[in-house]
Amino acid sequence: MANDTFTIAPMSGAIGAEILGIDLAAPISDQTIAEIRKAQNDNLVIFFRDQDITPAQHLGFAQRFGEVVEYPLVKGLDDYPQIAPVIKLEHETVNFGGVWHSDTAYLPAPPKSTMLVARELPPYGGDTLFSNMYLAYETLSDGMKSLLDGLRAVNSTKKADASATREDRLKTGAKEGSDDEIASAHPVVRTHPETGRKILYVNAGHTTRFDNMTEAESAPILNYLFAHQIRPEFTCRFRWHPGSIAFWDNRAAQHNPINDYHGHKRVMHRITLAGEVPS
Ligand code: SIN
Repeated sequence: MANDTFTIAPMSGAIGAEILGIDLAAPISDQTIAEIRKAQNDNLVIFFRDQDITPAQHLGFAQRFGEVVEYPLVKGLDDYPQIAPVIKLEHETVNFGGVWHSDTAYLPAPPKSTMLVARELPPYGGDTLFSNMYLAYETLSDGMKSLLDGLRAVNSTKKADASATREDRLKTGAKEGSDDEIASAHPVVRTHPETGRKILYVNAGHTTRFDNMTEAESAPILNYLFAHQIRPEFTCRFRWHPGSIAFWDNRAAQHNPINDYHGHKRVMHRITLAGEVPS
């Protein structure tokens, strides 16, 4: 059967692998799905190339890995509300999600995974960076680990830099209540429910402060962690082409799309899968 075997080609020493030899428009066995899931657990983000799939096939493939959840702030596609358009138009200057972040970390149970399909790309630029939050935790000193291990941090929809990246899409596609703050406190160090490994779970896009502390009190350590967790040796950079797909573990990886293609359009389709309350 087609799709019974595939090759995994790592993209960097820290994170990311291309999956070669799979056609997502053809039937895929449960065994292959289990192997893709393992590849994602091992590499945190996996990439597929040259996939000619419709939104229905995108949705069907994502559903093999879990329950699809809608993005809370901006409406999805008319025919597929579960698929969020991630768009920057020619005249816009800010790109959606253009800060280091973990998707919707402000929800009580943030998504476990995100699957992003490239639909229309600029002639250059618009790459996405990914960073490994296992390595970010493991490379902290023992003193910093024990300081952080018992802490919780607040994640909010209202952090200014991330809010600014949504404004263009909210003008035409805001969901009801999207202006109300959503905020949740999560452990600063969480444990991955499948791999059992510890994750540094704060992010510059959404984390505002440690629980029971002010923003000013939290800032020195949070700013240190935000800089530490994106050290170049923890990252990879993905160059998109039409039909490229990135499928990342939204707990153990962070991402940041680069805003370097002004005057050009970029259109992506994003699906997120339900996750658990972080612990
Ligand atoms: C996002 O999901 O934050 C967008 C990522 C991208 O546009 O590459």
